[in-house]
Amino acid sequence: MRVAIVGFGTAGTARLGAYRQVAGAEVVAVVDPSSARLAGARDLQPQLRTYLTLSELFANDRIDVVDVCTPPSSHVELAIQALDAGSHVICEKPVAFRAADARALAGAATRAERLLYPAHNYAFSPMMRMLTEGKGKVGTPVTATIRIRRATHARGIGSWQPDWRRDPAVAGGGILLDHGSHCVYMVTRLFGARPGKVSATARWQEDGLEEAIEVRLHFPDGTAEIDLSWVDDARTNHYGLSGSTGTLDITDGVAVFSGSGGSERRTLDSPTRSSTHEEWFADMFDDFTKIVSRPDRWDGPMDEILSTAQIIEAAYESARLDGRLVELGEG
Ligand SMILES: NC(=O)c1ccc[n+]([C@@H]2O[C@H](COP(=O)([O-])OP(=O)(O)OC[C@H]3O[C@@H](n4cnc5c(N)ncnc54)[C@H](O)[C@@H]3O)[C@@H](O)[C@H]2O)c1
Repeated sequence: MRVAIVGFGTAGTARLGAYRQVAGAEVVAVVDPSSARLAGARDLQPQLRTYLTLSELFANDRIDVVDVCTPPSSHVELAIQALDAGSHVICEKPVAFRAADARALAGAATRAERLLYPAHNYAFSPMMRMLTEGKGKVGTPVTATIRIRRATHARGIGSWQPDWRRDPAVAGGGILLDHGSHCVYMVTRLFGARPGKVSATARWQEDGLEEAIEVRLHFPDGTAEIDLSWVDDARTNHYGLSGSTGTLDITDGVAVFSGSGGSERRTLDSPTRSSTHEEWFADMFDDFTKIVSRPDRWDGPMDEILSTAQIIEAAYESARLDGRLVELGEG
């Protein structure tokens, strides 16, 4: 497959290296509005073709897969442009801020008869593997908890807008759209369902972007809590699961299963080797290649893009209403 990476910043650069480790795909082109970034890409891989815009790319090259690694506000437009040009699309999170945008994307993918696949790479993380295994050990999950705390946001490359994650016009929201996107699809996968209701309370910056938020998702058979902060003293990554027969606690890479038979402690294999997690890419790309060859499975990734956007939209609505329960609309 001939791949073009669009957006050659932190994520795009990591992706170029990650594609070198997988079979069946070759990055042949890079698109970025910065000539300096394009020169940097050619330094890494001299035979790359480089373009300032997606239109220039499609005027000159045939591309099977466009991998969108730009900051969030451009995802929908670039993904639709690439689908319309006949490419499959892998798109970084958050793919869509709003359910309406997710539906527009689904329409474009259906019209183009191409796959739109979200780069939901935490689904391939050691934490998610352990949680999935934990589901078998703790029984039907009743509660799930994800607590991600940081002193501040991650920064992008210096030559663009390093603090775009704090800019509502670029990021669409704060930590919930940024890291929280991962947490939302992780819990919907764990419960195997969409929540019926969502509530949230947030701490806002002056411009209305949340820098900390607690979200509660009410599933048919249990609840999940997602607790996120960019303004904490300590850095924590915690994932918890409890069920009818036990609990699983994963804190900063150490997992403890507890049940009637005692407890078992395990260290996760490299939970966070880098902020871009290229070590999880091979498994995600393998999933993409399996789905791309099966058009009957293309609805699955689209449904996850839509449900993630719907849940985040509902959480923001609830947080603006001081935590009132918000019903989730139809899928
Ligand atoms: N899944 C993950 O683990 C993970 C990790 C890091 C970043 N991301 C995601 O990757 C995306 C990019 O984040 P980043 O940290 O690499 O940002 P960054 O600021 O480091 O880089 C952004 C790059 O995009 C380019 N760009 C801006 N607008 C563009 C456009 N319209 N067309 C083409 N290129 C454009 C900029 O010139 C820059 O090179 C975000 O959506 C972010 O959420 C995901």
